[in-house]
Amino acid sequence: MCGIVGCIGKGNAVPFLIQGLEKLEYRGYDSSGIAIYSNGKIRVVKKQGHLKVIKEILKDNNDFCAGLGIGHTRWATHGNPTDINAHPHVSACGKIALVHNGIIENYIELKEELMKKGFLFKSDTDTEVIVQLMSSLYEGDIFQTVKNSIKKLQGSFALGIICADNPDTLIAVKKDSPLIIGTSENENYIASDIPALLSKTDTICRLQEKQIALINSEGFKLYDFEGNLSEKKLTVINWSIDAAEKNQYEHFMLKEIMEQPRAIKDTVYPRIEGKSLKLDNLNLSKEYLENLNKICIVACGSAYHVGCIAKYFMELLIRKPVEIDLASEFRYRSPIVDENTLVIIISQSGETADSLAALRESKRLGARVISIVNVVGSSIASESDYVLYTHAGPEIAVATTKAYSTQLALMYILALHIGKALNKISDEKYESIIEALKNLPENIEKILEGKEEIMSIAKNYYYYEKVFFIGRNVDYAVCMEGSLKLKEISYIHSEAYAAGELKHGTISLIDKNTLVIAIATQEKLMDKMISNVREVKARGAKILFLTTEKYYEKLKPISDHIVSIPQTYETVLPSLSVIPMQLMSYYTAKFRGCDIDKPRNLAKSVTVE
Ligand code: F6R
Repeated sequence: MCGIVGCIGKGNAVPFLIQGLEKLEYRGYDSSGIAIYSNGKIRVVKKQGHLKVIKEILKDNNDFCAGLGIGHTRWATHGNPTDINAHPHVSACGKIALVHNGIIENYIELKEELMKKGFLFKSDTDTEVIVQLMSSLYEGDIFQTVKNSIKKLQGSFALGIICADNPDTLIAVKKDSPLIIGTSENENYIASDIPALLSKTDTICRLQEKQIALINSEGFKLYDFEGNLSEKKLTVINWSIDAAEKNQYEHFMLKEIMEQPRAIKDTVYPRIEGKSLKLDNLNLSKEYLENLNKICIVACGSAYHVGCIAKYFMELLIRKPVEIDLASEFRYRSPIVDENTLVIIISQSGETADSLAALRESKRLGARVISIVNVVGSSIASESDYVLYTHAGPEIAVATTKAYSTQLALMYILALHIGKALNKISDEKYESIIEALKNLPENIEKILEGKEEIMSIAKNYYYYEKVFFIGRNVDYAVCMEGSLKLKEISYIHSEAYAAGELKHGTISLIDKNTLVIAIATQEKLMDKMISNVREVKARGAKILFLTTEKYYEKLKPISDHIVSIPQTYETVLPSLSVIPMQLMSYYTAKFRGCDIDKPRNLAKSVTVE
C-alpha cells in the first residue's frame, strides 16, 4: 500500500532513496518517484512502472544529488498509475513536496474548496489535495502549516514532507499508516518498513499514532498533532541485512518457502521448556479463561486461513466456541463481543487496516485482545493487550509463506496453553502435540527436499485455467490457502471447496480441463474423500492427491499424481500439508512466466480499507 522513504544528511541521499524504495516495492510497484532539495529548489523525477524505470533515468545523472530527499513507490488507490499521479506531489507555490501512504477520505470536499480559491490540480490523486492544502496555508512556517493542514484531513496518512525554505528539516507525519525513523551518525531516515533501513542502521523509532517528527542530520524531535513535544523510544532491530536479500534464490518467495524450518524453529523452540510450554507474557487467569463465552479469531487473507484451521483445533483442545471472521466483515457486522470474549488478531505486518480496526472495535466492546504479529512494535502489536511474535524475519514476497507457517505454529501453542490451563487436554495429548511441533522443522525440511518432484507435477498443469482444491475439515482450510496462493501469483482461477459440498452445485463446473488437488490427511475422513475424488474423476478431472506416507499406497491408484508428507500427530498435519501447496503455486507461476514476487494489482501490506 505504497512505500515511503526519506533521508536527511551531509552526504547524497539519492542512493539510499533508491535502494530503500527497492526494499519497499512489495508495498506497491505501479509507479515511483523521488523529490530532492537542490540549489534552492525542489526537483522531482517520477514515472509510471516499476522502480527500475526511475533507476534507469537516474543511472548516469550525477547532477541529481542532494542531502535531503523523499521517495515513494505506489499502489494506486485514487487515479490510474500514470506519471502525473505518481508521488511526490509538489505544491502550487513550488516549495513543498510530499509523499503519502494512506487514503484521504474527505479529499473531494477539500479539493472543491481549494479549487474555489483558485488552486489547479494536475493529478487525480487524494494526495495532491494535501500538498495544495499546505500551499494554501503556508506563510513561512512549515511546521505550523503541517499542523494546521493535518487537522483538516480525514482518513489515514503517513507523510514524508520537504520544504525548500527549510532545507535542514525532513518532516514525517503518522496517522493510521506505518512510518519509522532510522537513525545513524550524521544521517537520518524515514521509511514505511524496516527492510528499507537495514543497510543503514539497526536503530529505529516507530512513530506512534498522531505524531509528527522534525528530523535533521543530527537527530529528531517528536510532537503530537497539537505540537507538544513527545517522548521518543528507540529500538534496536536484530534482523540481518541478508534477511532482506534474495541471496542465491531467483525469487524471495522461494527463499522464504525454504526458510520455513528456521522460521518455525525460532518461533516455536523458545516457547517450549522440556515437555511443556512457556508463554510468560500471557497473563490469562484460569478464572478469566473459564468465564470466556467464546474466542473470536479475526484476520485477513492468508492470516484468516490460519484462523480457519485454528478454529478446528482450538475447539478440539479448548472445548469453547471459536468464531473466525474476516476483519473487513467483523468490523461492520455489530459483532457480539464483550468482556468475556477473547479476540485473537493474526497479522504478519501488524498494520492491516481492517485488522487494526477490528482490534479497536473489540477493545471498545470490552474484549481482551491477543495478537499474533511478525513486525515488532507495529500498530496491531502495540495496541493489543498481549502480543505473541512470530519470528519469521522480514517477509518480502507479496505472497506470504513463512509468516503463514509461523502464525499457524503459534496458534497451536496458544491453543495448547489455553486448553491445558482449562484442564481440557490430557497430558499425553499435550505432550504429543508439543513433540509434533518440535519435529515440524525437520519434517518440513523433508518435504522441501522433494521440491523438484512438485516442480515436475506443476509442469504438467501450469497451462490449466481451472483448478479446484478439495478437502474436509482442516484439510479444507488448507485448501483455502493453497487456492489463494495459486490465484495470487499465477492468475489461474481456482476455488477451494469443502469436498462434501461439491455435489450441492459446484460439481457442474468439473470437466476434463479441470485439475483437482485433493488434500486427504485425516483418518476418519479418508473414505469420504476417496468417494469425493472418484466423483470428480468420473467427470474427467485430473487428480493430484496430497496425503501422508501412511495413505500413499491406498490413494495412488485413484490419482494421476500423488505427493506425500511425513506422518505426524494428525492435529498438526496442516503445518506440513501447506508446504507442497506453496511449492505447487510457486512453480506453476514460474512456468507461466509470472512476476512471482510482485503479482499484478497486489501489495503486501494492506493499510487501506
Ligand atoms: C496472501 C497474503 C495476504 C495477507 C493479508 C493479511 O499471500 O499475504 O492475504 O495474508 O493481506 O496481511 P497481514 O498478515 O499483514 O495482516
